Amino acid sequence: MPKSLISIHDFTKEEILHILDVAKEFEANKTQPILRDKIVATLFFEPSTRTRLSFETAANRLGARVIGFSDAVNTSVSKGETLKDTIKMVSNYVDIIIIRHPLEGSSRYASEVASVPVINAGDGANQHPSQTLLDLYTIRQTQGRLDNIDINMVGDLKYGRTVHSLLQALSHFSPKFTFTAPEELKMPQEYKIFLDKKGIPYKETTDLSEGINDTDILYMTRVQQERFTDIMEYEKVKNCYSLTADMLKGARKNMKILHPLPRINEIAQDVDDTPHAYYFKQAENGVYVRMAIIAYLLGYK
Ligand code: CP
Repeated sequence: MPKSLISIHDFTKEEILHILDVAKEFEANKTQPILRDKIVATLFFEPSTRTRLSFETAANRLGARVIGFSDAVNTSVSKGETLKDTIKMVSNYVDIIIIRHPLEGSSRYASEVASVPVINAGDGANQHPSQTLLDLYTIRQTQGRLDNIDINMVGDLKYGRTVHSLLQALSHFSPKFTFTAPEELKMPQEYKIFLDKKGIPYKETTDLSEGINDTDILYMTRVQQERFTDIMEYEKVKNCYSLTADMLKGARKNMKILHPLPRINEIAQDVDDTPHAYYFKQAENGVYVRMAIIAYLLGYK
C-alpha cells in the first residue's frame, strides 16, 4: 500500500518537521514544477473553499494537472456507486487522491482500496491532518519555535476535527493547553485521556476572557452546524463566543489568533486590524504546506 496521510499519526515527528522545512522552501520559491508528469484528483464530498483551492493551487504550482469534483451530486455516486468503486476507478486515472468526506473513517477506507497515495482533507469530526501541518507551520512562523507553546483552543472542541488533529501533533512538542468550550462542546474524553497518558497539562474553562492573556496561540473555531443532528442544540450554542478587539488589550505581544476558517461570529471584524490576527496568512500557508505534502507522498524528498 503506498504511503498516505490520513491521520496526523501517520507522520513521525521527523516527517512533520521535514514537511515544515520543505514548505518554507516553497514559500521562498513559490513555483517549482517538479511534478509536470503527475495528475492529482480532488474528490470533495463536502463543501470547502480553502482546502480544495489551496490543494489545487499547490498542485498547479508543482506543475501537476488536477481533475476532480467539488460536489458528488454530478458524479455516479448519485446513481449509487460505492466509495470503494469510485476510489478504485480514480486510482486508475491519477497519481494521488485528495478526499474530503463526511463519514469518519472514509479516508482510511479509501487509502486501503486505492493503489495511489491518499490525503485526508477532512473526514467528519475525525481528522484534518493537512490543516494541522499548516497550523504547525504557522505556529512556528509566528513564535519561532514549536516547543513549550501555550495554546488556548476555543469553541467547538467536540466536533472540530482541526483541534483533534492539532492536539495530537503538538503532543510531540511539550505544549500547555487550555480548552475553552461550553459544556455541550467540550473536548471529548478520548483526547484528554491521550494527553493524560503523555503527561501533557491542560485546563478547561467555559469563560473565554479567562484564557486570553496567558497564551501564545488563541486557536478559535467555528461551531460545526453540519455535525448537529438536532438544530435546537445548535441554536443553543451557535453564538457561545465572540472575540472582539477590546478583549485583546492584555494579550501577550507575541500572541497570534489562528482559525481554520470559515468564521461565522466567533471573531469580530475589528480583530482583523489588530497585530494579533494571523488567520488569513495561516490560510495562505496552506498552499506551501500542501505543496510539501504532495511532493513528499509522491517520493520527492
Ligand atoms: N479550513 C478548512 O478546512 O476550510 P475549508 O472548509 O474552506 O476547506
